[in-house]
Amino acid sequence: MNHWKIALIPGDGIGPEVVSQGVNVLKAIEELDPSLSFSFKEFPWSCEYYVNNGIMMDDDGLEQLQEFDAIYLGAVGYPGVPDHISLWDLLLKIRKGFDQYVNIRPIKLLHPDLTPLKEKGEKEIDFLVIRENSEGEYAGAGDWLFKGKAEEVVLQTGVFSRKGTERIIRYAFEEARKQKKTLTSISKANALNYSMVFWDEVFEEVSREYPDVQTYSYLVDAASLFFVLQPERFEIVVTSNLFGDILTDLGAAITGGLGLAAGANVNPERTYPSMFEPIHGSAPDISGKGLANPLAAIWSVSQMMDFFGEEEWGKRILTTMQELLNDKELLTPDLGGASSTEQTGEAFIELLRKASLEKQR
Ligand code: NAD
Ligand code: IPM
Ligand code: MN
Repeated sequence: MNHWKIALIPGDGIGPEVVSQGVNVLKAIEELDPSLSFSFKEFPWSCEYYVNNGIMMDDDGLEQLQEFDAIYLGAVGYPGVPDHISLWDLLLKIRKGFDQYVNIRPIKLLHPDLTPLKEKGEKEIDFLVIRENSEGEYAGAGDWLFKGKAEEVVLQTGVFSRKGTERIIRYAFEEARKQKKTLTSISKANALNYSMVFWDEVFEEVSREYPDVQTYSYLVDAASLFFVLQPERFEIVVTSNLFGDILTDLGAAITGGLGLAAGANVNPERTYPSMFEPIHGSAPDISGKGLANPLAAIWSVSQMMDFFGEEEWGKRILTTMQELLNDKELLTPDLGGASSTEQTGEAFIELLRKASLEKQR
């Protein structure tokens, strides 16, 4: 029997609404698979927690989380608490503190109706973005000088360490080799004359160790164009923290929107827990209304299953999502349906049960 301990951080806005659906999926899996069990502990850390306690998470929060196999997070950030505080003191603190330096974000079209792109289907839109997740433009280094004065100067320094750059690029090469896919590096060395020149050099250097992997290197502006016009160019993509953030929202746009896009924050060495989350935010514009699409959060459960070595379940969650997507009735309004978060979650679980019981027969 495999037992996994999962820390829940539902967070803000639609975060709790979608996480509760993801937890229901985990509970259904537990019921369907006698070889698996999960335990959950919920942490209240959020903007509401900040308003009441003056902190986003307990001072020893990372120590509290250390004992878990995985963290399942909803979303963080809400009007009333400055975003740079709520995100830096919770989400980014965990990503950095737990050295979750690999951010894995699949850009995979699950149903032909979901893409706004003409003449592109599941075959053309199927790639993986591997985003550097620990430093780069998100290093948090900088200064704010002469605040409020005429001479005011703000510095935001990107930090690209040899170790940090090499390990993410190497991770991407390993993935490309394993999956027998091409690898595309996305950077911007024509304008970012230190960081991205260095990035490209490291990519070139590491590529020499992987002669079996076909590589491409694009500037981020051209890559954005190709995401929309020729997504079939991409199989595995490796890019920096900020570029990866922006490009994966664009990736979401060509595969059904933020209601479907998921991401895994992975510490490959497993020294620390990894964290699974939808890539969307707390969506204050729709929160509390039952409008949030739970499928992004459910896709991140699929990533969690893969991470636990339960790839069968990972795959089955995706095929069940594909089945669900065939019937608009069962979808939330962002995908043209009229179902609530809960109804979509329940419909998903019903299909998952059916598929699993059929399999057992
Ligand atoms: P957002 O992702 O919350 O929302 C962008 C748009 O997508 C909104 O119109 C929203 O309604 C829609 N949307 C998002 N998720 C959806 C879902 N599951 N179903 C249906 N529609 C969905 O981004 P934002 O509005 O720029 O940010 C809101 C807050 O969330 C901010 O505080 C921001 O900092 C934070 N944020 C947090 C995370 C995170 O915790 N991982 C990620 C992004 C943004
Ligand atoms: C994401 C989010 C975060 C990021 C924010 C909330 C700090 O946009 O996970 O994509 O930029 O990484
Ligand atoms: Mn983002």
